[in-house]
Amino acid sequence: MAKEINLGILGLGTVGTGVAKVLLEEGDLLTKRTGMRFRLKSAADLDWNRDRGVDFAGVHTTTDVNEVLNDPEIEIIVETIGGYEPAFTYIMQALANHKHVVTANKALIATKGTELFLQAKKNGVDLLFEASVGGGIPIIKSLREGLIANKFLSLYGIINGTSNYILTKMHQDEVDFGQALREAQMKGFAEADSTLDVSGGDAAHKLTILASLAAGAMVDFDSIPVEGITSITTLDVDFAKRFGYVIKLLAICRFFGTELDLRVHPTLIPKEHLLAAVNNELNAVFVTGNYVGDTMFYGPGAGQCPTASAIISDIVDLSKDLLLKNGERFSNRTVNPEEKATLLPLDKISNRFYLRMFTLDKPGILSCIAGVLGNHGISISSVIQLETHGQKDVVPIVLLTHKAPEKAMDNALTEIAAFDFVRSDILRLRLF
Ligand code: HSE
Repeated sequence: MAKEINLGILGLGTVGTGVAKVLLEEGDLLTKRTGMRFRLKSAADLDWNRDRGVDFAGVHTTTDVNEVLNDPEIEIIVETIGGYEPAFTYIMQALANHKHVVTANKALIATKGTELFLQAKKNGVDLLFEASVGGGIPIIKSLREGLIANKFLSLYGIINGTSNYILTKMHQDEVDFGQALREAQMKGFAEADSTLDVSGGDAAHKLTILASLAAGAMVDFDSIPVEGITSITTLDVDFAKRFGYVIKLLAICRFFGTELDLRVHPTLIPKEHLLAAVNNELNAVFVTGNYVGDTMFYGPGAGQCPTASAIISDIVDLSKDLLLKNGERFSNRTVNPEEKATLLPLDKISNRFYLRMFTLDKPGILSCIAGVLGNHGISISSVIQLETHGQKDVVPIVLLTHKAPEKAMDNALTEIAAFDFVRSDILRLRLF
C-alpha cells in the first residue's frame, strides 16, 4: 500500500490555493509517479468566505495556524503566506516541531536564511524553496543536483518578471515605463509593493539564493550592489536598439577564485544573445559550469500554476527521504549555513558602460567629455548625438565605452557632471 504523507498549508492566497488544487486534483497521478499518497490534511487561512475554485471537502480548514503547526500527523508544512512576519515565526515553529517546510518565500530565505537553515539542521528536518526563484523553472534543483559535478563559473539571471515585462513593452511597443508597470500590475506579476520589482530588490533576493547555492556558502543580501530600472526611458531603450542591444534587468554572479562578483542592474545585452530573447514576464537563468559549459533555464517566473508546480516537486523530494528514512537530509549539505561567501567590491570590477546625458548644443562639448574620459583611461567605442529631442537648446548624447574600471568611471562622471553644459543627471548603464 502507498505510504501516506500528511501535509498542511499555511496561507491560501494565489500560490497556496494552487498547491491545494494540485494536491487535491492530481493525487492519483502523483501516487502513480511516486508510489506515495499525498494527503492535504489541514489548511489555515484567516479568510474562508472567499470562493477559491477548489473543493476542500475532506480537508480540515481552520483560521488557527496552531492546528497545523502542532498536528503530530503532519510531516510537511507548506508556507505560502509570504512576507517576513508572521511567516518567519511560523516556519521557525514548524521546524522546531520537527516538520519539514516548503516555501516560496524569497524575501525570507534571502534575508533570514542562516537562522532558518540552522533551525532546520538543529531539528533534523529540511526547508526547501524551489519556488522562491524562477517560479516553475527547476533552477534550484538543477544547481543542487543536475549540475552537482560542476564548479560554477557564472550565472546570469532575468529573474524579475515585472521588470522584464516593462522593459519588453518599452522595447517592442514603445510604451512608457508607467503604462508598462500598470499593465504588469493588472496581469498580477508585480509584488504587492511593486517598488521591490522595479528597484531590483526582488531580483536581489533571488540572486542571494542562487549565488548561495552556487557558492555553497551564505551570501549577505545587504552587500549586493543593486540598481533598478526606474531611470530608464524609452529614449534609452531606443538608443540601445540602435547600438544592437536590448536592456534587461540582470542579476549577475561571477566567480573569481573564492570571491564573488554579485550585482543587479539594468544591462545592455547584445541582441543575438539567448538572454535578449527572454521577453515579457518570462524568466531565464544562464549558468556556466566548468564541466557542463553554458546552459540556460527558461520559463514562467511567477503565477499560481508554475509556482505550485515547483512546490509540489519539493514536497515529493521531501517525501522520498521520509519514505526511505534517510536520516540526515541530502540537501542540507549544498549550502553551509555557517559559512559566509566573500564578495568582490564593485570598485574592483571593470565593465563596459552606456552613458546618456542631455547637454547644451555648443561647440567643443563632445571633446570636453571625451577628454575627461580619456584622462581617466576610458576609451569610447561609439557615440550618438541627436540633433534635437523636443527640448529647446539641449540634446541627448549617448556614449558606449570599452571596458573600464568602475572606480575610474565614478571619478570621470563626477567631473563630467560638474560641467555647466550638462543639463541632466547622467545615466550610467553596463554592458553584458
Ligand atoms: N514579482 C515577482 C516577479 C513575482 O515579477 O518576478 C515572482 O517572484
